[in-house]
Amino acid sequence: MADPTIEQSAPAASAPPPPPNPPITAQPVRKAKQDRAPEGDPGIWRISRRNLLSIAGWMGFFAFILTSTIGALRFMFPRVLFEPPTKFKAGFPQDFVVGEVSEKYKDEKRVWIVREREGFYAIISICTHLGCTPRWLASDIKFKCPCHGSGFYKTGINFEGPAPRPLERASISISDDGQIEVDRSIKFLYEKGEWSKPGAFLPFVG
Ligand code: FES
Repeated sequence: MADPTIEQSAPAASAPPPPPNPPITAQPVRKAKQDRAPEGDPGIWRISRRNLLSIAGWMGFFAFILTSTIGALRFMFPRVLFEPPTKFKAGFPQDFVVGEVSEKYKDEKRVWIVREREGFYAIISICTHLGCTPRWLASDIKFKCPCHGSGFYKTGINFEGPAPRPLERASISISDDGQIEVDRSIKFLYEKGEWSKPGAFLPFVG
């Protein structure tokens, strides 16, 4: 028989039942990224990174082609300095005064035309030192370069300053219509003995 003093141990509590499993709900399915805009979306500004890189690549390619084409064209058509024609008509011999130096064509053609009793000669108005334009000083009967002081006689021969040689002469002749014609592309150099050649001097007595 059981001892009543001895407290009967309570029967062991049973473990709580496990919570019921949460209901399985459907997970939203992630759609893969699409480059194409969804239907109804204009998608003008929707540019993916891949498209952006592609566009940048094409732009770089076309920029390279454009630059290469321009470079090739510039090579084919080099810059050319177009100068006015070197040959020009200077008027009739009777228009010039014996003993005078005409500066009519000095600025435009860079030539003086000198009228002497026996004829004409044309002097190129470029200093033989460093290329400045000398001035005709009628009162001193000489050409004077303002840059470094070179002086030239009326004939063009240098006599003072650093100019190493006389001024150059241009070809002078009478054209078919009776006018004086000067051609700067044909030059005559004193130091080479060329002033005695035909074209360096135009005989004319009138
Ligand atoms: S350029 Fe004429 S003297 Fe020097």
